[in-house]
Amino acid sequence: MSPTPQPDLEPYWMPFTPNRAFKKAPRIIHSAQGHYYTDAAGRQLLDGFSGLWTSGLGHCHPKIVAAVQEQVARLDYSMAFQVGNDKAFALAEKVVALAPEGFTRVFFTNSGSEAADTALKIALAYHRARGDGQRTRLIGREKGYHGVNFGGMSVGGILPNRKAFSAALLPGVDHIRHTHSLPDMAFSKGQPNWGAHLAEDFERVVQLHDASNIAALIVEPVSGSAGIIVPPLGYLQRLRQICDKHGILLIFDEVITAFGRLGAAFGADRFGVVPDIITTAKGLTNGVIPMGAVLVKESIYQALTNGPENLIELFHGYTYSGHPVAAAAGLATLQVYEEEESFAQARAIEAPFEELLHSLKGEPNVIDIRSIGLMGGVELAPREGAIGARGFEVFLQAFEDGVVIRSAGDILQFSPMFKSSQDELERIVETVRRALRNTP
Ligand SMILES: Cc1ncc(COP(=O)(O)O)c(C=O)c1O
Repeated sequence: MSPTPQPDLEPYWMPFTPNRAFKKAPRIIHSAQGHYYTDAAGRQLLDGFSGLWTSGLGHCHPKIVAAVQEQVARLDYSMAFQVGNDKAFALAEKVVALAPEGFTRVFFTNSGSEAADTALKIALAYHRARGDGQRTRLIGREKGYHGVNFGGMSVGGILPNRKAFSAALLPGVDHIRHTHSLPDMAFSKGQPNWGAHLAEDFERVVQLHDASNIAALIVEPVSGSAGIIVPPLGYLQRLRQICDKHGILLIFDEVITAFGRLGAAFGADRFGVVPDIITTAKGLTNGVIPMGAVLVKESIYQALTNGPENLIELFHGYTYSGHPVAAAAGLATLQVYEEEESFAQARAIEAPFEELLHSLKGEPNVIDIRSIGLMGGVELAPREGAIGARGFEVFLQAFEDGVVIRSAGDILQFSPMFKSSQDELERIVETVRRALRNTP
C-alpha cells in the first residue's frame, strides 16, 4: 500500500490554535470510531473531550452516519428562504418536544456563534415589535463565552477574545460580574454553596442603565470556555427573578449544556430555571454536521409575527439555516438520545466521574477542581511569567499518552462521552494524574 500523501500544512489557518507551534509538531486525526480517535500513525486516542463538547454519543454513530448518507443522496440542499425542506420542519418539531415547557419555536443556524447573535437580534426585535424599542442594551457576564461573532463577542467576557477588537465591540453592552472565587468555592462538588448573592450585581447594572433601556441578559448556565464555572446554588433563580421584575429577557446560552451534557435535555431542566430564549448547537447533531438552534417562547414569536401576513417578519437567516443534511443528522441524533436514554446515562456516570476527577486533589499544582454533569475542570497554578504553559504541557503529555482532554490557559477541561465505562473514566483521570506528576 502506498503511503497517504502528506498535505502541506501551511495553507490551513487553524482556529484558536498557535499555528506555527502546531505545524512544527502537528496532531492530526485521520478517523474515529466510538470513543476513540485514530491519528496519522494509526495510534488510538481515547477522546475525553467528546470532540469539542459535541459528540457525547461517540464518533461515527452508525444511525447518524446512515441518516446523513441517506439524506445527502436524497436531498442535498434546497433553497432556505421562501422554500423549506421536510427535515428542517421535522427537526424543529422534535426540538420543541424536548424543550422546557413554553418553548414552541425554533430558528436554525449553523453554529453556536450564529445562535448567540440570532438570539440577541431576536431580543432586540421583540422589544421593538412590542413598542418598547428603547430597550436596546444587551447585558452579558464577565468570563462568558458566546462565540466569536460581533454580538456574541461583545456580550462575552473573555479578555483575549475581545482585546484586539475592542474598538469594534457593540455599543450599549454591559457585563455583570462573574461568579468565580477560589477562596470561597475551591474544590466544590456540583453547585457551590457560596455566591448566590452575586446575582445582585445584575441589579446594580439595572440601576446604572435603567431597566427601560435593557433588552436582555445572556449567560451560560455553566460557563464552559472560561473553565467550568458552576452556578452557585440559587444564583440562576435570582437572575430569573430580576429579569422578571424588570421585563428583561433571559437568554441561556446552552451551546454546551443542552442535549445531555448535564444529564438532562437542557441546563434549564437541570437547574429548574426557565429562560425566555435558549441557544444550542454542538450536541444538536452530535457534532456530525454543523448546526445551531435558537429556541423561543411562543410569546416572543407572537410578538414578532403579528404584522401583514405576506411580509417577512424577521429580516435574518442564513443560506444554510435548516440545511437538510444537518437536520437529518439532528433528527437521528435526537432519536438516538431517546433510544439509548443518553441523558439518564450521562446522569448515571456523573457521580463516578466527579469522584475520579476530585481524586486529583493534592496532585502537583492543582488549585481547584470543579464539575457538574459530565463537565469537569481542573485548575492549575500558572507558572511564573508563563500563563497557560503548564496547562498546555499537561494536555500535550496526556495526548502523547493516548488521551485527549483540553487545556484553556491553565485550566484542564474534561467532557467525557455519555456512555463512558468506569475503565475509560479511570484511564482519562490516571493519564492526567501521570502528566501532572511529570509537569514541573
Ligand atoms: C456557550 C457557547 N456559546 C457559543 C459558542 C460558539 O459556538 P461555535 O464555536 O459553534 O460558533 C460556544 C462554543 O464553544 C459556547 O461554548
